[in-house]
Amino acid sequence: MAGEEKLSYHESIERASSSLYRFPLLPVRGIPLMNHIANSWDIIWAFRPDPSDILIATYPKAGTTWTQEIVDLLLHNGDADACKRAPTPARSPFLEIVSPPPIPSGIDLMKNMDPPRIIKTHLPFQLVPPAFWENKCKTIYVARNAKDNMVSYYHFDCMNKTQPEPGPWEGYISKFMRAELAWGSWYDHVKGYWKEREKRNILYLFYEDMKENPRREVERIMKYLDLSLSDEVISRIVQLTSFEIMKENPMANYSCIPTHVFDNSVSPFMRKGQVGDWRNHFTPEQSKMFAEDYDKKMKDVNIPFRTLI
Ligand code: A3P
Repeated sequence: MAGEEKLSYHESIERASSSLYRFPLLPVRGIPLMNHIANSWDIIWAFRPDPSDILIATYPKAGTTWTQEIVDLLLHNGDADACKRAPTPARSPFLEIVSPPPIPSGIDLMKNMDPPRIIKTHLPFQLVPPAFWENKCKTIYVARNAKDNMVSYYHFDCMNKTQPEPGPWEGYISKFMRAELAWGSWYDHVKGYWKEREKRNILYLFYEDMKENPRREVERIMKYLDLSLSDEVISRIVQLTSFEIMKENPMANYSCIPTHVFDNSVSPFMRKGQVGDWRNHFTPEQSKMFAEDYDKKMKDVNIPFRTLI
């Protein structure tokens, strides 16, 4: 806890520096999670959101930060200054994150915020605290095609010094396929929310659709949230949430995390923001091997992923 001193998010991470390292993963109901999360699991599972809270759920690196920014701007009628009140993780808490003190946990941050809160999670559907469904919280799920998602996660694991060492790319593909990365199986993650989307009224979005036609997807989110903003405000939100603008926005580009934790010289958090970067990483053999395994794992669902737009 930051305590009475009211540290900024950046300061709290600086203070915790000596306790930050590549945290090992521990299984929670079979899902590998950072040890601090696993050790606080009972508190996370018991979390009770307000019915007005909005959940943004993703597999890591699927477009979480982008969607958090869109939703925050929608709730603030496109007011760019209001959405620069704090960096993303302090504005839109990460439900399950637990880090060494004095870094506040996601749940600590929420205690000091009035609903509706924009809550981020990477938990697979079955690990989302049940009170979210009891309270019928609006939930936006963003899915990204497996290959681009993996490429993005690989670069993130290289630069984020609190994630397990990614090792070489070739081996990383195997870890992804074997569900050994933090937050577990991409395949089960995208399927879990897909299967529940109608019953739980989940808005299921695709990163590729957001890239293809951001205005259409911003309007879909707006309608889902029962908001009605002017065309001009919608245009402003689309512009403010473009990759180029967000990359330069210190309250949205994760420059709040000190460089010895997020090493931007290895890879920037706002890296490329593209569809199809997998072509620069997968060899033809890797693509073939991956596709064969993918088809087996995904044969029970028909989720319309696109690897190019
Ligand atoms: P890349 O590594 O492919 O560039 P998350 O927020 O879930 O961690 O996802 C991060 C990924 O989303 C990164 O992908 C990042 O560049 C991309 N991203 C962030 N903001 C974006 C935006 N406004 N438009 C497109 N992509 C964005």
